[in-house]
Amino acid sequence: MSTLNTHHVVVIGGSSGIGLATARAAQQGGATVTVVGRRSDRLAAAAARLPDLRTAQADVLDLPGLHAVFAEAGPVDHLVVTAGEAVLSDFVAGPDPAAQLDGFSVKVLGAANAIRAALPVLAPTASIVLTGGVSTARPVRGAWTTSVATAAVEQLARVLALELAPVRVNAVSPGWTVTPMWDTVLGEQAASVLEGARSQLPTARLAEADDVAAAVLALLSNPAITAEVLHVDGGGRLV
Ligand SMILES: NC(=O)c1ccc[n+]([C@@H]2O[C@H](COP(=O)([O-])OP(=O)(O)OC[C@H]3O[C@@H](n4cnc5c(N)ncnc54)[C@H](OP(=O)(O)O)[C@@H]3O)[C@@H](O)[C@H]2O)c1
Repeated sequence: MSTLNTHHVVVIGGSSGIGLATARAAQQGGATVTVVGRRSDRLAAAAARLPDLRTAQADVLDLPGLHAVFAEAGPVDHLVVTAGEAVLSDFVAGPDPAAQLDGFSVKVLGAANAIRAALPVLAPTASIVLTGGVSTARPVRGAWTTSVATAAVEQLARVLALELAPVRVNAVSPGWTVTPMWDTVLGEQAASVLEGARSQLPTARLAEADDVAAAVLALLSNPAITAEVLHVDGGGRLV
């Protein structure tokens, strides 16, 4: 098992939730960590919580902006992409499909953009972890773009594990995880929806962002794992 000690880890979407927990865990493992996100207030809050954290502002849909981030960031040992958002999208009643694809683009095109931009500074021994989700196996009615996006990201990890070898590419697939994302998407309903999900889970508990971060670090640091999708869903695929 390799160590993250002295490695440089870049977390795209690292200013909140699972990405922020991953940044913290990587720092605790001895890594230098750069987090990337769009909102300067979130980046500043992350930096205030994690001393020595490096931050950079970019949107994953802005490829030139990402190239600028990696040119500045220098050599990168590991790349983690957690940028994404849950989007409620009604296939039948919603607008034209193209108008509903924002969330899909952030997750899928965003991951591809981040990897493309990182390639010039990525070490040959590097590893990459993308973020899918339990909606690949358990689609949710009214959120079709999220399900299609998580499936595509998990397949992207498998495809790029071949294309980019010997760089390793894996994906983590979170289930219901307590992060700020749910307040953004569900507002006042967040607590009751999460409790409903929790009550169904074999583990009878929702994942914390730290639980998913631990799985990300396992994928980053195990040199024998590539093209894998690691589920952190409390058994949510089964219920
Ligand atoms: N929480 C769950 O239950 C759950 C379940 C399954 C899968 N996931 C997946 O896990 C990942 C992380 O989710 P989370 O719950 O940790 O969400 P979160 O707390 O809302 O964090 C999302 C992060 O992504 C960044 N981001 C979003 N859009 C971006 C863009 N266009 N460009 C750059 N950065 C962007 C956000 O910063 P800015 O807004 O400032 O850009 C933030 O740092 C997502 O891909 C999500 O789909 C989460």
